[in-house]
Amino acid sequence: MKLFIDTADTEEIQRAAAMGVLDGVTTNPSLIAKTGEPMRQVLTTICELVDGPVSGEVFSTDYDGMMREAQALAAIAPNLVVKVPLIPEGIRVVKTLTEQGIKTNVTLCFSPLQALIAAKAGATYISPFVGRLDDVGHDGMGLVEQIVEIYGNYGYETQVLVASVRSPMHVVEAMRMGAHVATVPFAVIDRLLAHPLTDLGLARFIEDAKKIPADDR
Ligand code: G3P
Repeated sequence: MKLFIDTADTEEIQRAAAMGVLDGVTTNPSLIAKTGEPMRQVLTTICELVDGPVSGEVFSTDYDGMMREAQALAAIAPNLVVKVPLIPEGIRVVKTLTEQGIKTNVTLCFSPLQALIAAKAGATYISPFVGRLDDVGHDGMGLVEQIVEIYGNYGYETQVLVASVRSPMHVVEAMRMGAHVATVPFAVIDRLLAHPLTDLGLARFIEDAKKIPADDR
């Protein structure tokens, strides 16, 4: 499974990339707004930092506006993926961009039917928002399971990108379900490799290493 970071903070991206396990980046208008910088500038920097796919989202909600923004986003770099909301006009945009060979990430997916429509339009990625479903008492990862099953049933090539991840368990479940990608905030990435037994074991090894007689060499 690929691991993306869900942030527009270039410092977080650099720290995650330094681990050597980062496959891509997703952003959204809320994350870009937090940087306090213009979107084009932020996305250009991120695309230079990371080789993998970088999602940048359109702001408009009408077809012409989204198409205009999508073309401008796609021109930023070859690894830029245009993020489009799961609304009827957005689906039209995805269809057109797919015909033009531009990669898309269809965002704000909360149902398997929405995921089916996105795949039929040719979306490169579908982003089910698991944390936000959990927040309202629905089963976020249950949605991922359904989408993986449905896409498998019909051979859709759209990749399932688990978004709105809040905890390491979301990542574990995404892997078990066969999701293609999980996009994870920096705070959660940090916790993916943490384990108290690793820290305890290492502390003991370091102590015991001091008892080993030094080599003469
Ligand atoms: O980028 C989309 C998604 O991951 C948003 O997450 O935490 O705002 O629900 P969140």
